[in-house]
This record gives sequence, structure tokens and C-alpha cells, in this order.
Amino acid sequence: MSPTRKRPEELRSHRWFGPDDLRSFGHRSRTKQMGYDTEDFAGKPVIGILNTWSDLNTCHTHLRERAEQVKRGVYQAGGFPVEVPVMSLGEQFMKPTTMFYRNMTAMEVEETLRCHPLDGAVLLGGCDKTVPAMLMGAFTMNLPCIFLPAGPMLKGRWRAETLGSGSDVWKYWAERCAGKLSCDAWCEIEDGIARSPGTCMTMGTASTMAAVVEALGFIPTGAATLPAVHSAHARMAAQCGRRIVDMVWEDLKPSDILTRESFLNAITTLMAISGSTNAIVHIIAMAGRAGIKITLEDFDAIARRTPVLANIRPAGKFLMEDFHDAGGIPGLLSRLGDLIHPECLTISGKTLGETVKGAEVFSDEVIVPREKPLAAEGGMAVLTGNLAPDGCVIKHTAMEPRFLKHTGPALVFKDYPDLKARIDLEDLPVKADSIIVLQNAGPIGAPGMPEWGMLPIPKKLLKAGIRDMVRLSDARMSGTSYGACVLHIAPEAAIGGPLALVKDGDLIELDVAGRRIHWHVADDEIARRRAAWKPAEPRFARGYGKLFSEQVTQANEGCDFKFLHHGPPTPEPDIF
Ligand code: FES
Repeated sequence: MSPTRKRPEELRSHRWFGPDDLRSFGHRSRTKQMGYDTEDFAGKPVIGILNTWSDLNTCHTHLRERAEQVKRGVYQAGGFPVEVPVMSLGEQFMKPTTMFYRNMTAMEVEETLRCHPLDGAVLLGGCDKTVPAMLMGAFTMNLPCIFLPAGPMLKGRWRAETLGSGSDVWKYWAERCAGKLSCDAWCEIEDGIARSPGTCMTMGTASTMAAVVEALGFIPTGAATLPAVHSAHARMAAQCGRRIVDMVWEDLKPSDILTRESFLNAITTLMAISGSTNAIVHIIAMAGRAGIKITLEDFDAIARRTPVLANIRPAGKFLMEDFHDAGGIPGLLSRLGDLIHPECLTISGKTLGETVKGAEVFSDEVIVPREKPLAAEGGMAVLTGNLAPDGCVIKHTAMEPRFLKHTGPALVFKDYPDLKARIDLEDLPVKADSIIVLQNAGPIGAPGMPEWGMLPIPKKLLKAGIRDMVRLSDARMSGTSYGACVLHIAPEAAIGGPLALVKDGDLIELDVAGRRIHWHVADDEIARRRAAWKPAEPRFARGYGKLFSEQVTQANEGCDFKFLHHGPPTPEPDIF
């Protein structure tokens, strides 16, 4: 914890409210216009409650109430709360993909914090990209901040079945496509799979990112798994409000908390929960904002030494509510023991080791003992080879093991419309050992690297009982998905990565244990194909899309914008 304690005149907001000049008169009088008195704000930390509530974000419908509860805590601790909306990124409705807008929200958060009289912030988010987006912006701005996770929704229910977000959608859709599920049953599933506010309650990207960020130190201890509608969630919101005021006085900033070791803790947690592959891209991007270099090699090295302990779907059996009741992230970290760097600081002002000291696990079935792991190695692997010189990723704990080593002929789709148009044709030349390849689905090609990576299994194979096969792309995959899907191939096809040159019938070899993906095509043939390859015309002539296409980095670099990378601090605004 920082040994110093700020004085009121050292608050950042004092520059707006403190001076005896014309401009500050305006700031004070207009605050009074909102019904506040001098006693409400003078000399107090001004806390921004950055809220991603939106009617178009189905996971965040409770965040208006939570903002009020954060305010209650801020008042209790002697601060002055102000709620500020920022762009929401609701997975369900945004097209082409929320990932296309992650960096836009990150920019909005950074600039919102910079241009206003704020001393600290509580960030309200949870649905997938809102987590990295808000933290990327906040890390760059480097004001004291806490992330308040929306929390997982209640478990889904259909007849006697417990339903998990995403995972059971894919599962029952495959049954429906195979003609084994009635229309009525499908509608009943639609009614029962999302029964409350909150994020997907499987170990999808939202749950993964919350877990990762708690281990990183920015979510209150035990809160990453707290169900959205639990009364403790509302109490946690008020606690965030109280704590952020103290953090401002203590001047406890992200730069005091973030170290290479804290990011390694986040990655270890990712592996132990067999979390979403999306977290790889987001962790690299968040670390980049803190000036810390994290590479794909770090993920693979940590995966090799980290056992999978959380038995949560899609890689396991249970759901987030069960995980919370079993002890949540503190329980998990206590079982990881010496794999964690305990000295890393958290928003509590204590170290991670101190915050999880005495944590217990209440179900060995949900958080398994380290000596009896669900898998000896972490939930994902990084592969390289002549098809992915800058790496690619596979979640090998959520696929049929027979594909861990597999060679098959490629069946290539040049883009997603091509895939949609042909995948279910009766005469598609596909066999169970084929490898389906999707090109041009990466950061620039798609654009935005959508979650198309769990490529559909052709209907004719579904009808024959096939439920998994090897699939390759430069896209991402939803954390709730599963299957032998090789993802994030870099460089992507749209910029001329080798993926762009693959043709039907080329043999591709996948060797997960050897961390290798090999394309069995001779170098001179590859050179011939490269000479004939032409990039597509730029998709965007103007606007955000143009900025995105010109600035986005590749998956192995975190897909941040080049100009947003860590650098000298942006100057504070002048107040004239
Ligand atoms: Fe929001 Fe899954 S759709 S977390």
C-alpha cells in the first residue's frame, strides 16, 4: 500500500473545483445546478462510476441498480459519486462483432477519465469485451480504479436438464440439425436458457475475464464468480464504492498493482479454469497498456505447468454458480499454491497472497485437488508451424482427444459467406477426417476477428453422427464453444498469411503435444501461390472501420491499435 495519503488540495478534481477563479466558479455553480451543495463535493474524491448499462446489452440490465449501490458506498466513505455512461458491448446484438469495438470503448474510457474532474473510477461491465476494453482505457489513464463485474446469470433450465449459456445452444442446435430435437423442445430451451440478468454462466469469455481480472488484482476478492442476482452482489457494489474512495486517498494506481508477475498470475488462473481462448488476446492487450510485454510463449509455458482444477463447462461439468459456492477464485488460487506469485498487490491494498489466505474449497468435485487435476496441463496450447508462423491457439481440453494428433485434407472456404453458402450442401466433398479451413476471418479480414472459429460441422456429417472435427481459421471462438478448432492463426489470411494460400486437398497435420501445425505443401509450390495472391480491396473508405483496418495489430499482438500502445503519458487537459 502506498505510504502517503493525499491531502484534499492534491486531488485531481481540485484543479476543477478548488481555485478561486472564473472557470472554477463555473464548475461549482453548475454542480449546484444539479442540486448538490458545497458540502457534497468540496475537497472530496470525485468517483466516476463508468457504466456500460444499455437496453442493448442483455447481460447488464441490473447495472443501473448497481451504480446506485456504488454511489451509496462512495457517500458512506466521504466521496462524491458521478455516474457516466460509456459505450456498451453487448455480445448478442453488435455486428460484425464486439471485438471490432473493444478498442473504441477502451479509447472512450481513457478519454472520459482524462477530460473530466475524476479522481478514481469504478468500472461496471462484464459482458465479454467490456472487461478488457474498460481496463485497457483505465490502465492507460492510470487513475485508481476497481472493476465491478456484472456477475453470471442464474443457471438455465429445460425440463430436467441444467442448461449452460452457449455450450448447450451449440449442443442442442446440432441435435436439431440432425433432426433429433423437435421445434417445441427447441422453443422451450429458448425460454429457459437465460433466466436472469448477468453474464453467460459457463466459463465463457465473460466468466473467464472476470476470473483473470480478480487474479490480476482489480476485482474485490471473491467477486468474480458472484451471481448477478445474489444479494451479496449488491453489497459488493457498495463495498466497491467505499474502497475506491480510500484508494484515491492512498493514491493506489494501476501502475502500483500491475507487474509482469501479476499478469502471469492472470494467465495461470486462465489455464487452471480452462478458460476462453479470447482471454489470450485481451491479456496481451491489457499488459501492453501497462507497458508489460506478454507473448504467446508465456501462455504456452504456463499452460504446460498448470493443472486444470475448475470443473466448469464447456471443458467441465458445472456452472459458475457452483464455482462460486465451491470457493470461487480464492479457493482456486489457494489450491494453485506455489504456482501463484503471492506478493502481487491488489486493489484491497493487500497482496494476492494475503487476500486468499485461509480461503477454503467446499467441493472437491467443482474445484478439484491439485493432485487429482482434470488435466495435467492447462486448458489451451499455442501451436506454430509453416501455416501459423506467428502462432495459433487450440483449446485442447474441450475437444475429442482423437484429434490431438491428426492429419487430413483441407476443405477451404474463402470467407464466411462462402462457408454459409456451401457448408450444408449434400454434395460437399467432406469426410470425417477432412480439415475445414476458413480464410479471411481475422482482425482485418472479417473484420474484427469474430467468434466464427467453431466452424459448423456439415449437416451431412452431423446426420452421420459426427460431432467434432478439425477446423482452422484466423477467427476467435466463443468461450462457451468447444471442438477441435485451431484459432487466431497469425498472420491472418487478409494480410497474406500462409492461411490465404491453402487449397482444397492440401494435407494439414495437427500435433498438439508437439505444439505444431504443419502444412504439407512444398516450398516452391507455396512460392508459386504467393506470387499469384492479391490482397482484397480495402473494405472501408472512411470512419472507424478505416481507422480500425489501418491500426489493428494481429492476434498474437493483442489486436490493440498501434497508436494506443504504451508510451509517454498523454498530458492532462489544460483548464482555462
Ligand atoms: Fe454477455 Fe455472454 S452474452 S456474457
